[in-house]
Amino acid sequence: MRTLPRLTFLGLLVSLTAYGQGPDWAYQSVTEEIPAAHREDPDAPRTVPGSSQSFTQTQIDDHWNPPNWFPDQTGPVPEVVAHGNGPEVRGCAACHGYTGMGHPESAQLAGYSANYIVNQMADFKSGARKDRFWMNRLASGISDEEVRIAAEWFAALEPIDWVVEVIEADTVPRTYIGSGRMRFVHPDGGTEPLGYRIIEVPENRELATARHPNSGFIAYAPVGSIERGKDLVTTGGSGKTVPCMACHGIDLKGLVDVPGIAGGSPVYSIRQLNDFKTGDRAGTMAALMRPTVANLTTEDMVDIVAYLATLDP
Ligand code: HEC
Ligand code: HEC
Repeated sequence: MRTLPRLTFLGLLVSLTAYGQGPDWAYQSVTEEIPAAHREDPDAPRTVPGSSQSFTQTQIDDHWNPPNWFPDQTGPVPEVVAHGNGPEVRGCAACHGYTGMGHPESAQLAGYSANYIVNQMADFKSGARKDRFWMNRLASGISDEEVRIAAEWFAALEPIDWVVEVIEADTVPRTYIGSGRMRFVHPDGGTEPLGYRIIEVPENRELATARHPNSGFIAYAPVGSIERGKDLVTTGGSGKTVPCMACHGIDLKGLVDVPGIAGGSPVYSIRQLNDFKTGDRAGTMAALMRPTVANLTTEDMVDIVAYLATLDP
């Protein structure tokens, strides 16, 4: 061997941790070069409609101080949510937003029970639940009291209808995965076959990159997937899976400490179904999901999450 492999520190960490197989497109791990038309001037002031404040992109992307465009709407925000705590713990709002709706590459927290959020943090900390990017490190550096404070704050938020539309299509706009692991429509245009994937892009790129708290997403799903997903979710598809209402509630909006699954990001949801199946999500409560996913193919999961995304959260 003539040259040693050049591993960055992060690359080394990733290479030492094994993750289950799954649909790579849903993990949005490989970021691409940002097209020229989408490169922000890091120092230019940016504004969003309805807010009198302005922030530069550098400020917007500061994970310890994410912009709260509408402080009148959020009211007082706990310190850990807005600013984190120390070098490992970034403010939760940087990735989950001040509305707690997150983005397809992160997760919704709004409206889940505080106990559910606390349990997930414990699973991230113990490693029973693996996130390839952030949450394991973050959950290890935070105190139980801070977790409880953040959990109660997010639990009290009302979920908003974030997935504005699910469009069934064979051919979709060309997209790329930019910084922050978000997928965007390519400014140079073009189309590509969707294949058996779901792609999710912001309805308004400008608002999403400004970390606007309630700008929505559009999901593209394969033709016929919504109908097939509805059958799997509501009947179990002749024994292929278990009808979801049994545990997630008749409206799929959650039941006690079982989270709601209606109306959330389909790309987030498919990562979860895959992680339950591969064992990357294997906390105590996750055991309840194993029989549900055991016989599902990636295509079935695409169908299921396409249907769930059409429902009200
Ligand atoms: C730098 C980005 C980032 C920050 C900051 C962050 N998270 Fe996360 N979080 C993520 C990502 C990414 C996921 C999705 C993991 C996955 O896809 O399975 C996630 C998932 C979660 C989940 C699981 C949600 C679910 O529905 O099961 C919880 C709970 C959570 N985060 C809590 C927090 C809390 C509390 C904080 C603040 C202390 C925080 N996060 C800060 C990126 C972040
Ligand atoms: C036997 C009970 C049970 C059934 C049936 C069930 N679930 Fe779940 N599901 C759970 C529990 C419990 C959790 C939370 C696991 C945890 O706390 O880690 C969960 C979590 C999830 C999550 C992750 C939510 C999040 O925010 O991270 C998704 C997605 C999901 N279920 C989808 C489904 C779908 C789709 C079906 C039907 C095809 C289904 N579930 C059927 C019990 C169930």
